[in-house]
Amino acid sequence: MQSLTVDLGARSYPILIGDGLIADIGRHVAPRLRRPRTMIVTDRHVAPHYLATVEASLAAANIATASLILDPGEGSKSWAGLAQLTEWLIGEGVERSDHVIALGGGVIGDLVGFACSIVKRGCAFIQMPTTLLAQVDSSVGGKTAINVAAGKNLIGAFHQPTLVVIDPATLATLPRRELGAGYAEVVKYGLIDDAAFFVWCENNGAALLEGDSAARHKAIAHSVSAKARIVAADERETQDIRALLNLGHSFGHALEAETGYSDKLLHGEAVAAGMALAHRFSAANGLCPTVDADRVRAHLAAVCLPYDLASAGVDADGATLAGHMAHDKKVRGGKLPLILTRGIGQSFVTDAFGLDAVADFLDGER
Ligand code: NAD
Ligand code: GLY
Repeated sequence: MQSLTVDLGARSYPILIGDGLIADIGRHVAPRLRRPRTMIVTDRHVAPHYLATVEASLAAANIATASLILDPGEGSKSWAGLAQLTEWLIGEGVERSDHVIALGGGVIGDLVGFACSIVKRGCAFIQMPTTLLAQVDSSVGGKTAINVAAGKNLIGAFHQPTLVVIDPATLATLPRRELGAGYAEVVKYGLIDDAAFFVWCENNGAALLEGDSAARHKAIAHSVSAKARIVAADERETQDIRALLNLGHSFGHALEAETGYSDKLLHGEAVAAGMALAHRFSAANGLCPTVDADRVRAHLAAVCLPYDLASAGVDADGATLAGHMAHDKKVRGGKLPLILTRGIGQSFVTDAFGLDAVADFLDGER
């Protein structure tokens, strides 16, 4: 088992990584509890594979459990899902010092985290991520949210977990397409500030996706270690450090909005195409060598991820897509900061480009 730390002073927490850890969860949770009781929240896809194992491990540590199984998918990250979950927690007699367990992907993690930020004015929670996306990104860092009619993740809070337990073996049951979407977030860490890790991705990405366990471990540990460092440096995204984690997200957001936040384009797939577009936009504006933008596209294409508008299934014109970007929650002072790059591993934040320039570029990409 590997152990990392998110260094946030009194709110620091460990990230444990190891195959089979979910069967050993009781041992890691028990010392944190003030009373031997916890609540587990999961979804209908995850529960049949892993819930009984987690419950049994907690029972073996003499911890009583109650479990809630929610509908899978973004629909649960909603006012209705939040009401269902918070009412259930209160009905179960949750106490502030309890540690609610989020067992699932980013949807369960974001929803449980947000519920725990408000129930009884805040109770503790533990992340047990079971998708690659959640294992390398969403389970760490304390961003929690639900979606509302006006957009995704618009209602939320920063609320850090007290423990993150990553069992890469749970990826064995994850559908290949979901694995690919999570892999886009792995590639992101190379593109942000770690050119050597991008080279590692070029050499090992295909094996990782095919099930190579050593490659999965390396990618997860490297990614969460990078995320822990970034979160420790800029927990609330006020210094243009954590904002770099949004590489590909502004272009990706436009693609997701255009495809209706649906199964047509998963979040990670949109991020993949968005990262390729951010590199091409940078190259088109003389910021980044074209050869680097081409390498990004080539790698994403090699692992069957979208790498441009057409492969993302988007045919809208530039003005329409830039219009979606104007509604991004990252807009500040009427301007949308973009994460652009000077080359692989050299990303930076800028608001030097208006959405007109982005619209013209996207028209050229069609
Ligand atoms: P998800 O939680 O919807 O999981 C994807 C699918 O896989 C679901 O159908 C789920 O039931 C299923 N699943 C999960 N684990 C499984 C397993 N081991 N075996 C079989 N099926 C499994 O999606 P996701 O990609 O994990 O997360 C996406 C969400 O994460 C979005 O809502 C996004 O906004 C959020 N997100 C949050 C952050 C953050 O920092 N908080 C970062 C990135 C993304
Ligand atoms: N996934 C972006 C962030 O955590 O900041």
